[in-house]
Amino acid sequence: MEKVFRDYNKPDVNAAVRDHYRKMRERQTFEYVQDMQRKYLMFNKPMDLWDAMIHLNDLIDVSDPDLDLPNVQHLIQSAEAIREDKRPDWMQLVGLIHDLGKVMFLWGNDEDGTSQDEQWGMVGDVFVVGCALPESCVYPEFNKLNPDMSDSRYSSELGIYEKHCGLDNLTLAWGHDEYLFQVLQHHKGNLIPEEGMVMIRYHSFYPWHSGGSYTSLRCDKDKKYLEWIRDFNKYDLYTKCNKTYDLEEIKDYYLPIAEKYLGEGPIYW
Ligand SMILES: [Fe+2]
Ligand SMILES: [Fe+2]
Repeated sequence: MEKVFRDYNKPDVNAAVRDHYRKMRERQTFEYVQDMQRKYLMFNKPMDLWDAMIHLNDLIDVSDPDLDLPNVQHLIQSAEAIREDKRPDWMQLVGLIHDLGKVMFLWGNDEDGTSQDEQWGMVGDVFVVGCALPESCVYPEFNKLNPDMSDSRYSSELGIYEKHCGLDNLTLAWGHDEYLFQVLQHHKGNLIPEEGMVMIRYHSFYPWHSGGSYTSLRCDKDKKYLEWIRDFNKYDLYTKCNKTYDLEEIKDYYLPIAEKYLGEGPIYW
C-alpha cells in the first residue's frame, strides 16, 4: 500500500499534533508576528552552518504527523533525494538546509512558542496574518480561535492587503521558513539562486501552495513561485522515511557545496 502523508485525521496522529495546531491558530496574530520579527531578526549570533545542522539532531518537529526522527535526518533525506535525481547542487543544498531556521529553539522560549516543548511559533503549516483564515488550513475548526478573526481590520478576505499584491508583500505566521530566509537574505555573499530562496521562504505555506487559497492576493509573479515550491515539496514531503544517516559521513559531499553558495565564515542568526 502506498504511504499517505499529511493525514491529520488518522487515528495514530497524536494529540500533540492537534494541540500544536490549536495553539498556533490561537496565538499567531498579526501583532505577535510583528513582535517576533523585531525580536528574532537581529542577525547578531554567529554560528557555522554545520554547527546549526548538528543542533537539529536535538530537535523533533512536533507538528509533523509523518516523522519522529531528529530534524537533521529529514534534512539529509531531502537533500539525498534531490541529489539522486541529479538536480542542481544549489537545490541539493536547499534540501539540506531548508529547515535550519528551527535552530531558533536554541535561544527561543515557551512563551514565544519557539522552544523544544512549545513549537507553535516555529514549525507547522503557515497562513497569512492580517486577513481572513482560509478553510484549507489543517484543522480549520481552530480558525475561529484566532483573536484577529474577531477584529474587523484583519478578518476580511483582503484584510490589510491590497488586491493581487503578491506573495512577497504578505506577512505569514512566524516560523522557521521566514526566519532562515531572512537570515540568508542578510548573509553577505549568499549566492543561492532566487528559486532556492523562494523554496526556503514558502515551503510551509500549504494553504497557498497546496490548498489553492488566497487567490485574490496572488499576482502574476507568484505563478513562477508556485512551480518552484511544488517542485521542492516533492522532496520535502515524500522522502520521509526511517532511513537514517550519519551527519559526519555526508559532510565531505555537502560542505563544499555549502561553501560555494554561502562562503566559509559563520552565518549570523
Ligand atoms: Fe520546514
Ligand atoms: Fe522540511
